[in-house]
Amino acid sequence: MKGKTIILGVCGGIAAYKAAALCSKLTQAGAKVHVVMTESATKLVAPATFQALSHEAVRVDTFDELDPKVISHIDLADRADAVVIAPATANMLAKMAHGIADDMLSTILLATTSPILAAPAMNVHMYAHPATQANMEILRERGVQFIEPGVGQLACGYVGKGRLEEPEAIVEYVKAHFASLEAPKLLAGKKVMITAGGTVERLDPVRYFTNDSSGKMGFALAEAARDMGADVTLIAARVSEAFPSDVTVIRAESALEMEAEVLSRYNEMDLVVKAAAVADYRPSETAAQKIKKTGETLNVTLVKNPDILEELGRRKEHQFLIGFAAETEQLESYAMDKLVRKNCDLLVANDVSQDQAGFGKDTNIVTIFDKNGPALALPVLGKRETANRILQVAAERMNAGGKA
Ligand code: CTP
Repeated sequence: MKGKTIILGVCGGIAAYKAAALCSKLTQAGAKVHVVMTESATKLVAPATFQALSHEAVRVDTFDELDPKVISHIDLADRADAVVIAPATANMLAKMAHGIADDMLSTILLATTSPILAAPAMNVHMYAHPATQANMEILRERGVQFIEPGVGQLACGYVGKGRLEEPEAIVEYVKAHFASLEAPKLLAGKKVMITAGGTVERLDPVRYFTNDSSGKMGFALAEAARDMGADVTLIAARVSEAFPSDVTVIRAESALEMEAEVLSRYNEMDLVVKAAAVADYRPSETAAQKIKKTGETLNVTLVKNPDILEELGRRKEHQFLIGFAAETEQLESYAMDKLVRKNCDLLVANDVSQDQAGFGKDTNIVTIFDKNGPALALPVLGKRETANRILQVAAERMNAGGKA
């Protein structure tokens, strides 16, 4: 973050007060922060607050030229290493999507060629509105990165999705963005497929079996591979996170669907990481209509799902294959058994009985195994850092072994 020039765009949402803390944290982290506020934002927080926190003049009016030698909206737009919009209101997203430049901030957003990171915050219905979602989709396609709002109590009284992400988390996101630009392109030119989430095995149209997988580890791997220069395809089952940007996302609900999507793309891949929690069994039949409660008991017969990773191991030619194992005991022996049985190049094992590891957590504790045994035991790390380390090991081996 040191030495980076960041434009912090503050729009007129109640969460504008949180932008003050964000401004302070970005400045403390070493960035030069230029705050640009919309007229409405100034009704919620005074520009003087941001000026004191950033030690820079705050811009609101396009025609308020502070330096006669330059045209300030173009000058700022050109100098920025990144533009962070927090809070990004539905109105600002709509203006961005349609190229409207009617105030200082929207004009800078049109003029800049630097990366834009937008943290939306608004009422739950405004966020879910098809217009807002369509605008976000347009912006996503143009490369805008979204720091998704959280779910919680909103200022309007509703509980739902629309809360501005906490300033600390936004700072982490901005840091990760700059780090990703500097990440060595260890997987440049490689095609990488990653599976994520828990499969859904349907019993009838409204009921299903699934598991607690959130998809966080798979998403972290997809982001890390993307930042290392790979062309990433993410096969996602049931997940509880927003999809990473700039990766191809394919939805696959059940193990059978995932198998079809994975196998049909396998030949063209250089690296495959099987991070999804695939159900080992599925109901033998999926009822076409909702099952009615007729008896005192209901017996469901489960049949075995195909083991996708094992099939990939069987068909392996030039691909580098990484499997995952979630264990609660005898980590090493179970991990080595899976590595051999499924013909993986690496197997990442995590002990899900530990507090800081496993389903839904932001951290993980993994050991990476190869055919000789444990190759690298990682400490408690964020899932994104864990993903970086796993892919670094894979990339080194792929490049050294001439594989892929
Ligand atoms: N896996 C798969 N297809 C399945 C089951 C698992 O591709 N039907 C993959 C997972 O994506 C993961 C690895 O196999 O990469 C390990 O999954 P896990 O459930 O831990 O192992 P299992 O082989 O199912 O063994 P067990 O349930 O006996 O622990």
